[in-house]
Amino acid sequence: MDKYVVFGNPIAQSKSPLIHTLFARQTSQTMTYEAQLVPLGGFQAAADDFFSSGGRGCNITVPFKEEAFRYATQLTERAKLAGAVNTLKKLDDGVILGDNTDGEGLVQDLIQHQVELKGKRILLIGAGGAARGVILPLLAQQPAQLTITNRTLSKAEQLAELFSPYGQVEASALDDLDAPVFDVIINSTSASLSGQLPGISEQLITPDVICYDMVYGSATTTFNQWAQDLGAVMTLDGLGMLVGQAAESFMLWRGLRPGAKQVQRELRRIMQ
Ligand code: ATR
Repeated sequence: MDKYVVFGNPIAQSKSPLIHTLFARQTSQTMTYEAQLVPLGGFQAAADDFFSSGGRGCNITVPFKEEAFRYATQLTERAKLAGAVNTLKKLDDGVILGDNTDGEGLVQDLIQHQVELKGKRILLIGAGGAARGVILPLLAQQPAQLTITNRTLSKAEQLAELFSPYGQVEASALDDLDAPVFDVIINSTSASLSGQLPGISEQLITPDVICYDMVYGSATTTFNQWAQDLGAVMTLDGLGMLVGQAAESFMLWRGLRPGAKQVQRELRRIMQ
């Protein structure tokens, strides 16, 4: 039986085993997918063990994505630019391919909700690992402009420079953003996790704006609640991105694209 695993620390909260089990059932794939707690500093040993005992592929979550990046013997372009790997696959020739499916997961979720990105103005709040992982897939959708803003401006500037060969991308200070020019606003900061707002002006929330919080939970996130109260036309949370990135990993491993909608509904139901 083909073996897959997700490595992380902590890992008990991971929904990946459930998501991939549902995908496997949906597409009639014979495979197992388990969660494995890895001690800090123990990623390489865990990955070596897994692949030498016949493991076919794994997901990697916090805090091992950078270690997985270094572990891979070959990288996809999007993983190279993300600087982090959330998916490894052992190829037939023994190469360990590292990919990052987070950004495509976000894009696919937006597409599924009929959110057009081509020609649109996107604001990305945050400049940490979560932001970096989604920039190339967002630029691939050919937005008119991608603006990165962050509490620490220099980090947004570094990302804008890194990605400038790939599309229209610029950095801006939080305080300089007061004109309501954005079509889609994506919050990649962890602020919602502590009930905080990322610090953008209320004026950016127009009646047509679509807001996306990469965080998710059983209740509406702090950022999305704020945006809804200010009249945003649509708010989406990161559960769809979670399922989307899993679908992309599954596709890389099995060559089949599972349906994300039904799985997202099931997750939403059990989280209530
Ligand atoms: P991740 O990998 O999840 O992106 P990270 O690399 O620690 O985590 O980055 C967290 C991001 O959230 C950063 O952009 C951080 O802003 P700073 O670079 O200024 O630290 C942002 N962030 C976290 N808490 C925030 C808050 N309360 N308000 C605004 N931004 C916040």
